[in-house]
Amino acid sequence: MEMNSDVTRRGFLKTLTMAGAAVAVLPLLSPSARAAGGFEKVGSVGDFTVGDFKKVTLSDGGSIYVTKQSDGKFLALSSRCTHKGCEVLWSPGGHQFKCPCHGGRFDAAGKNAGGPPQTPLPELTTKVEGGSVLVQP
Ligand code: FES
Repeated sequence: MEMNSDVTRRGFLKTLTMAGAAVAVLPLLSPSARAAGGFEKVGSVGDFTVGDFKKVTLSDGGSIYVTKQSDGKFLALSSRCTHKGCEVLWSPGGHQFKCPCHGGRFDAAGKNAGGPPQTPLPELTTKVEGGSVLVQP
């Protein structure tokens, strides 16, 4: 009886260890996982349009807005309002970001343009490699 209990406990611990290892490896296999140097792929060059922002969820669960600029470069902005941290929303018709919490507004470059925010939306470093757009959160 005691022997069976040890085997069962050992088997359980082995299964638990394997499950833990699988959970640890899964983020590494994700296509949005961070590349070397802390950059994370947010899409392909063709996924973005000049004059419009696309909302992207990063591997850490945070979200950013990314757009292609007329010069071919990419602009990535935090979606967190610099007033109290609410998530801003892109308004394509108004070409601005609006904060639903206290009426803050930011222009298409992320500069604070009205309401309580006193500083621009933080900008993330971007680069293009092999047709993919990468950002450094
Ligand atoms: S949190 Fe955005 S305006 Fe207050």
